[in-house]
Amino acid sequence: MTSYLLSELNKQGTLTLTLNRLDKLNAFNGDFYLEVAQALRDADSNPAVRVVILRGSETCFCAGNDMADFLNGMGFSKDQPLVRFMLALLHFSKPIIAAAAGPAVGIGTTLLMHCDLVYLADNTVLRLPFTDLAAVPEYAASLILPRLAGYQKAAELMLVADKFNADKAYEVGLANAVLPANELFSHVDKIASKLAAKAPASMRNTKKLMKAELLTEIENVIDVELEYFSNALESAESKEAVSAFMEKRKPDFSQFS
Ligand code: COA
Repeated sequence: MTSYLLSELNKQGTLTLTLNRLDKLNAFNGDFYLEVAQALRDADSNPAVRVVILRGSETCFCAGNDMADFLNGMGFSKDQPLVRFMLALLHFSKPIIAAAAGPAVGIGTTLLMHCDLVYLADNTVLRLPFTDLAAVPEYAASLILPRLAGYQKAAELMLVADKFNADKAYEVGLANAVLPANELFSHVDKIASKLAAKAPASMRNTKKLMKAELLTEIENVIDVELEYFSNALESAESKEAVSAFMEKRKPDFSQFS
């Protein structure tokens, strides 16, 4: 099986997971989701791992879900790769830090909402393109982003759905800091080593306590969103949106009511 993930554990207990499907800008297909989900589950049960960094390259974090899979249809059972990935990250018990540079689109933006700390390079370009794909937000973004950003700012990011930069992401509460691209990974490594040196049970319990109240709400919203998402992918609007991406043209929604 092709591996899309690089994994490196250092002596201090920092596990760095690097998304590595760069010819498709780290777009997630089913195998890729499963690989990251498995890596997170393994990291959770491995006492040598104290903290995880999830990153891409210096020029690309993740261009979202693989569009080809949208055309082929995606079932959304609990065993579906995307859902397994979502649950593995949602229930990950140790600190996880995201380090993103370049494109962070779709789930590449949304997954940041589920990491404990988020650092962005100043070249990061984020986007929640769901309305342009005739889809809906996923992974509880419809719950989390309005709470983080306030309704109107979230509505602008989700309804207008234009790309936005790292400073805007910081302003709406999606990121802890914005760094020059060439300093991002060394900064994140330093934060990770601080966390790796701390008392591990205290770290896990603190995270658990901070997330407890929101967790049930998130799980419920994920299920509802997936039902909407799944129905949306069957629609003619969505077929037009995804075909337009594949054919490198603008979608035409003028015939839909
Ligand atoms: N799924 C599948 N393939 C993707 C992809 C995705 N989400 N995003 C990028 N790719 C592929 C492109 O098809 C292209 O492949 P090719 O060289 O075989 O044609 C390659 O990655 C490079 O992408 P390209 O669009 O040429 O790069 P760019 O720098 O001009 O644009 C983006 C970068 C991120 C703006 C653009 O790729 C994009 O909008 N991607 C789709 C993002 C998206 O809507 N994702 C959400 C899905 S929920």
